[in-house]
Amino acid sequence: MHILHVVGARPNFMKAAPVLHALGKRAGVRQTLVHTGQHYDANMSDVFFSQLDIPAPDVNLDVGSGSQARQTADIMSRFDPVVLERKPDAVLVYGDVNSTVAAALVCAKLRVQIGHVEAGLRSFDWNMPEEINRVVTDRLADFLFTPSEDGDMNLEHEGIPPEKIYRVGNVMIDSLIRLLPAAMQCARNGFPDRYALVTLHRPSNVDDSQTLKSILESLLDINEDLDVIFPVHPRTRQRIAEFGLNVEKLRLSEPLPYIEFLALERGAVVVITDSGGIQEETTYLGVPCLTLRSNTERPITVTLGTNVVIGQERNKLASELSKVLSGRAKKGTIPPLWDGHAGERIADVLTRHSELKV
Ligand code: UD1
Repeated sequence: MHILHVVGARPNFMKAAPVLHALGKRAGVRQTLVHTGQHYDANMSDVFFSQLDIPAPDVNLDVGSGSQARQTADIMSRFDPVVLERKPDAVLVYGDVNSTVAAALVCAKLRVQIGHVEAGLRSFDWNMPEEINRVVTDRLADFLFTPSEDGDMNLEHEGIPPEKIYRVGNVMIDSLIRLLPAAMQCARNGFPDRYALVTLHRPSNVDDSQTLKSILESLLDINEDLDVIFPVHPRTRQRIAEFGLNVEKLRLSEPLPYIEFLALERGAVVVITDSGGIQEETTYLGVPCLTLRSNTERPITVTLGTNVVIGQERNKLASELSKVLSGRAKKGTIPPLWDGHAGERIADVLTRHSELKV
């Protein structure tokens, strides 16, 4: 059986690693790894490959940055000949980035089976490019691997036949569990004992100057009581420079490698973020998470976990933060199947399907 994996952007790497490792242990499985090049900076890509023990990609499509349309179209036109040449039995795509939907569209038209890892998540917010990517990819996929029950329910409501849906748990948490011991060894030299960890990169938060200014002002207020550590995504750094915003008092850094970031996440008093995956990681770690978005495609982090969805209201951020600081943070539990074995369960499903065998 020949499985081809497509990755492209930072969150894909943590999701693909456990599946690559699990399938690597199965007899008779050949694997090909394609990197679309959506993320290309060393600290957005290479460092994740080495820390997560992902083999070097067999093919790099080198698409780089661009508009939603250009990036998606370039991935499609460069990926199409790779599929024709390599002839995989199935292609696995991960998460909700442009690389995910572009690869799924190519495979659907070439009639190659598609497995979508992290299927079924929905924010119901069509302003997010990721929501469009999720819905389209799930509609095209043959194997839908969901992290939690809400994913199954969303897919069933959309008419996806139940026999295509496999609830396998959370692959991102597989990577976290594997590398948490390394993160616990990682010295946090030069960082304060108590701090808020911040990440921001959603277009809805960073592409509008007034919104970004208001969020940064809130962070400066927080920084008066609790040090703010803020590894800055390249998109956000560009916007801060473009809008001429002053962030001198915040502790800004380049995007961090996986293990160093995990160490900071685990030690944080609170995490303030607009990322999807970080809402899940903080739930697993039991660290309070305040999400600067008006919705989440990962509602289980709110119902079971430590996540509170804040929106863009400064008052709500201040009041939820004061709950955390006064020891009244929301307590959470770890959702079912977030146990470090989701990658193995995906490998089980794929190796069970005889129609995939060559
Ligand atoms: C993408 C994903 C988003 C994910 C995020 C994680 C889509 C639609 N969005 O958003 O879901 O949460 O990755 O980081 O796929 N840039 C660099 N170096 C890089 C990569 C990007 O400088 O290695 C800059 C470029 O100026 C680029 C901008 O960041 O235009 C945005 O990159 P892009 O991949 O388009 O989207 P992200 O905001 O990273």
